Amino acid sequence: MNPDFKRTLVTAALPYANGPVHIGHLAGCYLPSDIYVRYLRSIGHDVKFICGSDEHGVPITIKAKNEGVSPQAVVDKYHKIMGDAFKEFGISFDIYSRTSSKIHHQTASDIFRVLYDKKVFTEQVTEQYYDETAQQFLADRYIIGTCPNCKNPNAYGDQCEKCGSTLNPLDLIDPKSTLSGNKPVLRKTKNWFLPLDKLQPKIKEYIDKHSDWRPTVYGQCKSWLNSGDGLQPRAMTRDLDWGIPVPVEGAEGKVLYVWFDAPIGYISATKELLPDTWENYWKKKDTRLIHFIGKDNIVFHCIIFPAVLMEHGEFILPDNVPANEFLNLEGDKISTSRNWAVWLHEYLLDFKGKQDVLRYTLCANAPETKDNDFTWKDFQTKNNSELVAIFGNFVNRTLVLTHKYYNGVVPDPTRYTKEDLLLLEELAAAPDKIAKAIEQFKFREALSEWMNLARIGNKYLAETEPWKLIKTNEERVKTIMNIALQITCNLAILAEPFLPFTSAKLFAMLNLPVLKWPSAKQTSNLASAHVINKDELLFSKVEDADILPQLERLANSKLHNSIPAMAAEIKPETSFDDFSKMDIRTATILEAEAVPKTDKLLKLLLDTGLDKRIVVSGIAAYYKPEEIIGQKVCLLANLAPRKIKGIESQGMILMAENAKGELSFVSPTKNETDNGSVVK
Ligand code: 2FM
Ligand code: ZN
Repeated sequence: MNPDFKRTLVTAALPYANGPVHIGHLAGCYLPSDIYVRYLRSIGHDVKFICGSDEHGVPITIKAKNEGVSPQAVVDKYHKIMGDAFKEFGISFDIYSRTSSKIHHQTASDIFRVLYDKKVFTEQVTEQYYDETAQQFLADRYIIGTCPNCKNPNAYGDQCEKCGSTLNPLDLIDPKSTLSGNKPVLRKTKNWFLPLDKLQPKIKEYIDKHSDWRPTVYGQCKSWLNSGDGLQPRAMTRDLDWGIPVPVEGAEGKVLYVWFDAPIGYISATKELLPDTWENYWKKKDTRLIHFIGKDNIVFHCIIFPAVLMEHGEFILPDNVPANEFLNLEGDKISTSRNWAVWLHEYLLDFKGKQDVLRYTLCANAPETKDNDFTWKDFQTKNNSELVAIFGNFVNRTLVLTHKYYNGVVPDPTRYTKEDLLLLEELAAAPDKIAKAIEQFKFREALSEWMNLARIGNKYLAETEPWKLIKTNEERVKTIMNIALQITCNLAILAEPFLPFTSAKLFAMLNLPVLKWPSAKQTSNLASAHVINKDELLFSKVEDADILPQLERLANSKLHNSIPAMAAEIKPETSFDDFSKMDIRTATILEAEAVPKTDKLLKLLLDTGLDKRIVVSGIAAYYKPEEIIGQKVCLLANLAPRKIKGIESQGMILMAENAKGELSFVSPTKNETDNGSVVK
């Protein structure tokens, strides 16, 4: 830990209060921030962990409209659901606040007013899109269209989620109102803009000082700064009726832009938590401010919010913004609207008491450097092959043998071998290794170092075989078991940031108070003669039957939400004469076999009524040879023969191809249609 910093303020992105929490949220920023904070607490560092619900902005009003209730009812409902889910998964915020609170409205208004009085904002009358049917201006997510940068057809008015660029509604190609679906019209309105263009040099200087940030984060910031026209002024107010009223005259009916007020929510929540000392965490140079976010929030935390803080003048700036990439689910983007997600509240119903298994899987697979995939199979493997087979197995063997040989009393080590001493050295070095990775925000690496320690313990037991040695060398077994117990204890200490529930259970089994990180640098935390408690299994196997319902649920989501595929466009007009030139006849498949060295082709022998002939057809992905013997088909019989994979194909079977490119036979519906009947 850099000794220049006396305290750290950690924030996790304020989630919109418009739906429950899913694994993408957890993996994106809440789990990594929680691990980081738990670690800092464990080393005794002064840290505060801030979060809350983001209750303004268009995502809330759209949800309210869809549910036919008021925006306030929406945020009240989800603020509670989200807060509860975080608690259940051990996300240990010091405060989980909300941006509809009085203290936040006041704080955000005050900060806006300071910038306004300092004449930071430019006041501009601009043309904005307006929906004449809904009679309102179309800010942010009220408008979608094609992204000018990456051509994503579903970019929002404020941001393209595909390429990450911030947008203004006027940038969109073919804009449409999400309220009515109509093409909007332009209307004049006044708003207050943050002149990011003018502030660019200061922002650049700030970003340039942080080339140590994750390459994905630093790289994105640099690319905005270096993009063609550089940073552009951005409106900090909106013509909407849900949000914090703009606190200046002549701004009736306008509210603060949600991305102006939301990050200020971190400040308001700190005030609420620490009414007397909050300024220590926001205004002192020896405080380190760290924002954990998902990659779609980078521009707001690395450019816009720092610009606001700089212009205000009293606040420290973010020292690091460890943004994660996205977590996909079974190969597909997580999507609330398509119900393609694993919801935390549902997970808890199906995997009661297994919060740490999900924490472990998500951390081991964290999307730190690139998008990653969560699969139920991998969840099962991580549980069975790592938590159960390595860590659980080691702890279980150690505790069971301690009860069996010594009635739970920690034995005295008698004499260490050279190997024992090397192992103890490795054990004592583990906390620093794990700490280093955590401090660099490399949580996957940290977790894997931790699991390595359990691996070392397992290997030690497997090699020393105390269960055999007990018959011949009781003294030696005492040393082995003492070492195994010290490893177990240190595993409990070092597990706490990652697996807090397991760590607490293990301390209870060891009959110890929760020990802090520095204790893990010692290898004698369990004193000889200390009596441990009864052991319990820490993890149980996840069976195929446990994950099957999850896979079925996802398959159902896919089925019900698949986008109706469009039929292919009609071809240009043709003439009857041209059509009549084609000799199409019915035929029956007599024999079928796969064409060697291809996975698409079948060689078919057809009875055409006139002759028997070979046709090679690209249908192997849709039909097995043995299934189609006797199948009636339609054949283009006068197609010029051609060689396919060395086989002369005499004609072509007609197939219907659906929008997904899947093929199926076109065949006469009456069985008495003889082979050779003309299709016309
Ligand atoms: O993307 C989101 O879910 C935003 N509600 C995050 C806001 S983070 C902060 F600025 F409050
Ligand atoms: Zn884009």
